[in-house]
Amino acid sequence: MPCVTPPLLAPSARPSSRSPLAIIFTFGLMVACKDDAPAADGGSFGVGSSGEAGVGTADDSGGLAAPTYWQDVAPIYFESCVGCHNGEGIGPMRLDDYATAREWAAASAATVAARVMPPFLVTADGSCGDYHAPRVLSDAQVEVISAWAEAGAPEGEPRDDLTVPAAEELSVPLALTTPAFLPIAEGTAVAESDEYRCFRVDPALDHDVFATGYDVDPGNAAFVHHVLAFTVDPATQTMAGITNGERMDQLDAESPDREGWPCFGAAGEGVDPSGVPVSWAPGSGVTRFPAGSGIRIAAGEAIVLQIHYNLAVMGGDEPPPISTTLRLELGDNVEREGFVQLIDPFIDTLFAGEPSSLPPGEAAAEYTWELPLADFVGPGGPALDLLGVFPHMHERGISQRFEVVHADESSSCAADVPRWDFNWQLHYFYAEPMRLLSTDTLRVTCTYDTRDADGPVLPGWGTQNEMCLLGVVASLAGT
Ligand code: HEC
Repeated sequence: MPCVTPPLLAPSARPSSRSPLAIIFTFGLMVACKDDAPAADGGSFGVGSSGEAGVGTADDSGGLAAPTYWQDVAPIYFESCVGCHNGEGIGPMRLDDYATAREWAAASAATVAARVMPPFLVTADGSCGDYHAPRVLSDAQVEVISAWAEAGAPEGEPRDDLTVPAAEELSVPLALTTPAFLPIAEGTAVAESDEYRCFRVDPALDHDVFATGYDVDPGNAAFVHHVLAFTVDPATQTMAGITNGERMDQLDAESPDREGWPCFGAAGEGVDPSGVPVSWAPGSGVTRFPAGSGIRIAAGEAIVLQIHYNLAVMGGDEPPPISTTLRLELGDNVEREGFVQLIDPFIDTLFAGEPSSLPPGEAAAEYTWELPLADFVGPGGPALDLLGVFPHMHERGISQRFEVVHADESSSCAADVPRWDFNWQLHYFYAEPMRLLSTDTLRVTCTYDTRDADGPVLPGWGTQNEMCLLGVVASLAGT
């Protein structure tokens, strides 16, 4: 194996009253490497023939009549598209109205055939992971839409009995809001037109709770590139011999005229977070952890919101002050305590001598990292149940593939994103947790289009830099 990864802090070495798998935030702790082995096979688009019913309705002559909007297509649209495409939602046009649906028939047929819509970036045909509530159409549904478009998008007999599934909502969420903040571009090589700012928002909890779901109102979707929420115990002693609370006060005091403090990486330099329950980015919508699971927020813990403002879109104009709100759904008990780990050994090379970079001028520049699970749980450590993943790259990313390599060198495909789309950053939860053994190794391969880059593309936090990040949501096996 070409990768050498120094041991991480053993989970048990952390002073924590939590599960032995209290989070270790890995930024800066791992040395990544570029895999010089040949690329793994490039992802399969094979869609097994489903043997599902054919298209259209049998007519009297035994032939097939063309599908119509109201009888055949609208039921699919109401179920899978109209939640967004209704004139008020985030979809650009209505699909619940025959006239516009007809105008968009050819484009709709093409996007559903390409599996671009509905947005769900991982391959969900069973060839690489089985997902909980996959937002995908069946092959037969795709055929209905394409046959309808080809037939000239006939209307059929109008009806009014179709409904849209209820939108996902959080029950009594706790809202945590940042002050209105005026971001300023950092102007550095790893964050040219970006600012990362951390804000402490105290939930003031007098007992431990579990985050079971969340969503974010970015305040200004054009400028807010991502939001992470870290749990930070103000009483925890940091490496510098002061507490997290004291360190946060110091950081905050360094820029008295501006709210919050700078925080590339995690919750700010020298702050030691205990977890990262929230990762939000454009397109995330409501995230809900799989049934029965949640991420602990301990009594007295602060929440630090890390907001990444991307100012490249501004063209020199000042943005308005932006106030961002995190809504957390909380429960007192969960059956399964999860934790979240954001893993990006590509970024970590910034802290380890010569950083890795991507060569410019390539249509598909590849970067692969490997992380033996033993580095994380300790050799012979406990097995984990992988509940879901959150793939993340920036705007040059074109694909990401996650495999689990077993002790006998065989590997299992665990998540495949054949066409990365920065606008759709979602969590993908498995239908059944995936068991990971301490002898397994995580392997992630990211591919980028660097044709427009002037020089090597550095990893970094700026929108123009790249990441090869896999967020994992996991729990101790069998809990
Ligand atoms: C989660 C919300 C969501 C769902 C569900 C969804 N869409 Fe979309 N759709 C969008 C958004 C937002 C855009 C514009 C941005 C983009 O293209 O990603 C879009 C773009 C499109 C476009 C391209 C429009 C253009 O400007 O070229 C088509 C066609 C489309 N959707 C059809 C569908 C169909 C058909 C379905 C259901 C099978 C569907 N969408 C489901 C949100 C959604």
